[in-house]
Amino acid sequence: MRIFQIVYEFIYSKLYNAIDPVGYARSVGVKVGKECQFFSVFFGSEPYLITIGDHVAITHATFVTHDGAMFTLWHKIPDEEYFAPITVGNNVFIGYGSIIMPGVNIGDNVVVGAGTVVTKDIPSNCVAVGVPAKPLKLHEEYYLGVLGKTVKTYKLAPQQKKEFLLNHFNIK
Ligand SMILES: CC(C)(COP(=O)(O)OP(=O)(O)OC[C@H]1O[C@@H](n2cnc3c(N)ncnc32)[C@H](O)[C@@H]1OP(=O)(O)O)[C@@H](O)C(=O)NCCC(=O)NCCS
Repeated sequence: MRIFQIVYEFIYSKLYNAIDPVGYARSVGVKVGKECQFFSVFFGSEPYLITIGDHVAITHATFVTHDGAMFTLWHKIPDEEYFAPITVGNNVFIGYGSIIMPGVNIGDNVVVGAGTVVTKDIPSNCVAVGVPAKPLKLHEEYYLGVLGKTVKTYKLAPQQKKEFLLNHFNIK
């Protein structure tokens, strides 16, 4: 019967995570604020050590709250583990493929660029990129840089959006 329970729990968690990622994150212990959006986020083995503010979007990112490398020290300090909580502020975007390492605090109004590995705290009001993450520019500079390059598509239905973009980029 144990195998049925494991299969059930696996399917349940996958489905729940696909249908309502924020609800699923809360159900496993992540503290999540208002108006958040998650897409394929892995909150790791201690999700209850993660706190996320309001209006945070995270896509295909991984949170790591422990140091598995302690395994190599177990002949000196058997069974000891290292953990550190992670906090994310308000109005934050964490880009595709990012990894947020143990103990990191990310401020408010922050963009973490795609593929970034965040090993140290990120101050408020900046864009951070790279491995390891470093502030690239102010959030305000990012805003000024995209002005005039954007299109108002977010609330369009998928087909409408497709037609709009094909036309916008003159793709036949
Ligand atoms: C971080 C980001 C917001 C920066 O955008 P931007 O302000 O327009 O940045 P720019 O294009 O002006 O790039 C500035 C510099 O940063 C570098 N850079 C940009 N994004 C980077 C990233 N993710 N990692 C490393 N370097 C990056 C550029 O190569 C450029 O370097 P250079 O000055 O040596 O030429 C954007 O690149 C990004 O990563 N967005 C997230 C995309 C994403 O995850 N989408 C998921 C789908 S929802």
